[in-house]
Amino acid sequence: MGRLELKLMALLILLTGLPLGVALWRAGVLFERSLGAGLNPLVSQALDDAVQVYGAYVTAEKGRFRAVGEGLAQGHALRVAAEGGQPALDAWLARGLERPGIFGLALVRAGAAPLAAEAAPPPGWLTRTERFPIDDLPGFTGLDVTYGAHAELLARFRSMERDVIEPFRALEADRRGLAGAYAWSFVGYLALAVLLAAVVSVVTARRVTRRLRQLRNAMTAVAGGDLAARVPVSGRDEVADLSQGFNEMATRLAASQARVQYLTQVSVWQGIARKLAHEIKNPLTPILLAAQQAHESYKGEDARHQRVLETAREIVEQEVHVLKRLVENFSRFARLPGVSPKVEDAAGFCRDVFSALGHVDGLTLVAPDEPVRAALDRDLLRQAVTNLIHNAADACTEVERPAAIRLSVQALPEGGALIAVDDSGPGVPEADRERIFDPYVTGKREGTGLGLAIVKKIVLDHGGSITVEESDLGGARFALTLPGSV
Ligand SMILES: Nc1ncnc2c1ncn2[C@@H]1O[C@H](COP(=O)(O)OP(=O)(O)OP(=O)(O)O)[C@@H](O)[C@H]1O
Ligand SMILES: [Mg+2]
Repeated sequence: MGRLELKLMALLILLTGLPLGVALWRAGVLFERSLGAGLNPLVSQALDDAVQVYGAYVTAEKGRFRAVGEGLAQGHALRVAAEGGQPALDAWLARGLERPGIFGLALVRAGAAPLAAEAAPPPGWLTRTERFPIDDLPGFTGLDVTYGAHAELLARFRSMERDVIEPFRALEADRRGLAGAYAWSFVGYLALAVLLAAVVSVVTARRVTRRLRQLRNAMTAVAGGDLAARVPVSGRDEVADLSQGFNEMATRLAASQARVQYLTQVSVWQGIARKLAHEIKNPLTPILLAAQQAHESYKGEDARHQRVLETAREIVEQEVHVLKRLVENFSRFARLPGVSPKVEDAAGFCRDVFSALGHVDGLTLVAPDEPVRAALDRDLLRQAVTNLIHNAADACTEVERPAAIRLSVQALPEGGALIAVDDSGPGVPEADRERIFDPYVTGKREGTGLGLAIVKKIVLDHGGSITVEESDLGGARFALTLPGSV
């Protein structure tokens, strides 16, 4: 794991773990406090009192009914009513029912049906019947008293015991266990948060460091001379910007290295050309003179020999002429001066070149009316564009279709100019597109192969570039760019 990944992980763990830890610790304190408040001895005492109150209430109610029942069964009123017969007993029963909480009275008689009176209890009341003995009244054995209590009240008291007091007692007993459980869940949550933070940070950090590592590898490759090394650009963040910037830098570096390489090579070739020109040029005049002398010095009559000498002199003269032209080209290439560009109108410049080359078959010009500002050295660039147009004219003779050559100029969006020469010749095969700019590469019988080398050197000296591609005219398109400023 890289150092950045470790740092990110530590940071994220700290960022999540610390606040969560503090929050859980605070929650734990509050939990303990509220548990303490809930299990307060006063609360416990109050609950105990409630149970006792309930018990006392029930006992008191039972005692009251019992007293009422006994009072009725043993009371004087019953004895008086018994002497008065049935109507008096009915009246006694009716009076008895008027007492609160009594819903039924039945006089149990020996050998006869009980004499009873009933009242309906209000809805939601529970009734219970109890028998009270009658000892001293012949014919009567007992009194059944039905009394009632509010069912909901009873149920509430019972449920208080079951739902509140019992769990409360259980809670009290388990107080220590609860604190332990809280502590464990506290540790669990914290561990989970830390684990999550670690995983998230590792995944995030990996994504960033992977791209940074790619960038570092590409930088090492470029530093080691591999200017083709590039990094994939993904996303829209700072790393993507950095990768994009790196790729652009590598592209510019490669272009500038190619430029330097080419110009270095050209200067070597210029040295060779200078030497060759010098070495070839010197013996040419003596060779020519010797051939002429040999021809003139023969005074004999042999016509055949005369003809041989004549032909030899012609061949030598012809070849010396070719060699002289070659020497001239070599010398011109060898003495190619450095450029001194000035910012001027490239469109006007192309118009001038076009007028000077008016005689070239099929040549047209496409140039905007408004000026196209570019840094150019008129004399050298004229030579370059002229070379391109001569090549185009040569190429057009190689095909059947009528010659069409287009010199065009346009402004570049980033500043500077693009000058192109298109033709309707056979075009340049893709495999030759690099090579043809090297000196002495020619496909022509009398070509020196220096034309394009001169063009490329002039364009590179301007700080521009040159490419060859297919033209919409059917042949080749040589396009050169010039910078907007010196
Ligand atoms: N417009 C073109 N269409 C097709 N091929 C071309 C064109 N321009 C150049 N070439 C090819 O590139 C070769 C090199 O061109 P370059 O101008 O360097 O030398 P050259 O024309 O052969 O000789 P020189 O220019 O010295 O007379 C040419 O011989 C030709 O084969
Ligand atoms: Mg040429």
